[in-house]
Amino acid sequence: MNYKDLIKKIDKPKMPRHIAIIMDGNGRWAKLHKTRRINGHKKGVEAVRRTVETAVEVGLEYLTIYAFSTENWARSKAEVDYLLKLIINSLIKEINELIKNNVNIRFIGSKEKLAESYNKKVIKTCKKSWNNTGLHLNVAMNYGGRQELIDAFNEIMFDMKSGKLKKSEIDEDIINSYLYTANMPDSDLVIRTSGEERLSNFLIWQSAYSEFWFTETLWPDFSREEFIQAILDFQDRKRRFGAR
Ligand code: IPE
Ligand code: IPE
Ligand code: MG
Repeated sequence: MNYKDLIKKIDKPKMPRHIAIIMDGNGRWAKLHKTRRINGHKKGVEAVRRTVETAVEVGLEYLTIYAFSTENWARSKAEVDYLLKLIINSLIKEINELIKNNVNIRFIGSKEKLAESYNKKVIKTCKKSWNNTGLHLNVAMNYGGRQELIDAFNEIMFDMKSGKLKKSEIDEDIINSYLYTANMPDSDLVIRTSGEERLSNFLIWQSAYSEFWFTETLWPDFSREEFIQAILDFQDRKRRFGAR
């Protein structure tokens, strides 16, 4: 079925508010097409574009995409350098189109290890979209769920020392407010491509009650139809949150 027809099947009141995607399989896509890994990443950007456009079209509120993990530094320097450049260049190239689509974009992740000039460029570019009221797009860049918690604990300790926060105040909402995803709803649906069925340190706190959707499709081949299918399947799930 074509994706326009699939979209009509979406039950609007049952839309997930926040979808998170582990975009995996660029390397295997490249291998399959007998080309270099970097060409898989390049092709992956086109899939990001399609996915973001579709998210806008279905009126999604929050989309978080895993672009580079705190573990990905372990790859070859050439691949890391390429990915860092590709991510910032894609942001700069797409920002006007994103703004036109009322997308509000931010990078979430650790600033450490990234050059100050890199972080500055990211903020300067993203800032242009911060008055937008449509899709909130989070690019998880140098992101690790454990690092996010370490950063949160450090800030909590800091605020406790200065008297801004009391020990008795700490609860789930307070911890949420110290995460990179402060003021955002938890991920309702986590999608992972390429047949791997693991979290790889992505949104470990926020996905405590997420639904998971896996596909064998390699990220560069991820289609609009498949994205909508994931949403339709989510709508058939019965979420219990521990209640019967
Ligand atoms: C996902 O594709 C992109 C990033 C992790 C940046 P991979 O590069 O992990 O592709 P595979 O898993 O080797 O196929
Ligand atoms: C997860 O994919 C990270 C991103 C998609 C950015 P990886 O390919 O790095 O994860 P593992 O190594 O297979 O767990
Ligand atoms: Mg991978």
